[in-house]
Amino acid sequence: MAIAKVAVIGCGLMGSGIAEICAKAGLKTVVREVSEDFLKKGAERIQASLAKAMQRAIEKEKQDPTQAQMAMAQALGCLQFTTRLEDCKDADLVIEAIIEDKTQKQDLFKQLDALCKPGAIICTNTSNISITELGAVTKRADKFAGLHFFNPVPVMKLVEVIKGVLTSDATLSELKGFAEKVGKTSIIAKDTCGFVVNVLLVPYLFDAIRLVENGVASIRDIDTGMKLGCGYPMGPLELLDFVGIDTTYHISVNMFEEFKSDRYAAPPLLKKMHLAGLHGRKTGKGFYDYTDPKNPVPMKLV
Ligand code: CAA
Ligand code: NAD
Repeated sequence: MAIAKVAVIGCGLMGSGIAEICAKAGLKTVVREVSEDFLKKGAERIQASLAKAMQRAIEKEKQDPTQAQMAMAQALGCLQFTTRLEDCKDADLVIEAIIEDKTQKQDLFKQLDALCKPGAIICTNTSNISITELGAVTKRADKFAGLHFFNPVPVMKLVEVIKGVLTSDATLSELKGFAEKVGKTSIIAKDTCGFVVNVLLVPYLFDAIRLVENGVASIRDIDTGMKLGCGYPMGPLELLDFVGIDTTYHISVNMFEEFKSDRYAAPPLLKKMHLAGLHGRKTGKGFYDYTDPKNPVPMKLV
């Protein structure tokens, strides 16, 4: 089956990036959000990101201004924004990127399964919820898989393709081809909570929070330590703000429930920040205060 039309459900941090790369690859892309307000915010995020990519292409002389503008206009022309789930019914591939909540995702997959063409593949961008458990609410577990992109989607080169117990080899092969079409390198992982990257990344991020809780060093110094000491592009606390404190908290709940290991237990400070609405960049405050986005200031949290 050739994937010509994609539906992206949820146009937050991840959904907007996924929709953008699909449109850039020339695929018709319908984007669904729950309200006009969220849809508008998501569309603005895509436009700003495309404009940034266009500017870069011109500066690096990869494209002249006319070519760059045409490429951006073509990508925008591939996008359709909607609040109606029915508008996704003729998609060949559906990619879900709503909040990290198992019940909400399962409700959505039941509706999508009833709505979509029998041949359509349905995927989830979940960070760590079981693919098998999500696929089990559909009648097409063979055409259900994980497609885990990384933030920021237009920049990060990886996608994890995750095989549920019943995911067919044909579906995996379609998804590897799709990943290549949208410019990503895919790795295949089994349906293990956290797959490959989050199993390694999450304990590292939590250890950084524990350093803050224990007063071992300041927020800025912990971040500087990992950037200059290990060459990471962002420190762990900057990265937590970037991923979202709410999303990371939901990830920790799933991982702890699965493994019952301290490695994945949410540090108390993470829970408190989640409850206080300090969700990171998306709410303007997390480990840093982004009132001046060019000059984030560490928050006083402990
Ligand atoms: N579209 C296309 N390319 C873009 C772009 C866009 N909208 N925005 C930036 N880029 C490109 C730029 O062209 C640039 O490429 P070149 O080096 O070839 O010029 C590159 O991305 C870096 O851009 P910037 O200079 O603007 O930004 P930066 O240097 O400050 O880097 C960053 C920003 C890429 C986010 C970097 O800080 C980084 O890699 N951070 C770590 C991100 C990370 O670890 N993500 C994984 C999170 S975990 C996850 O996602 C899984 C989960 O389940 C939670
Ligand atoms: P987000 O909060 O930025 O966006 C979620 C969006 O989904 C919101 O805009 C919300 O309005 C929308 N939504 C909720 N229910 C919906 C529905 N039924 N239909 C359509 N839209 C709906 O979250 P995010 O960071 O984009 O995360 C989305 C998913 O991607 C989660 O499963 C998360 O674990 C995963 N993920 C996140 C990251 C990250 O770095 N943030 C990285 C990889 C994977």
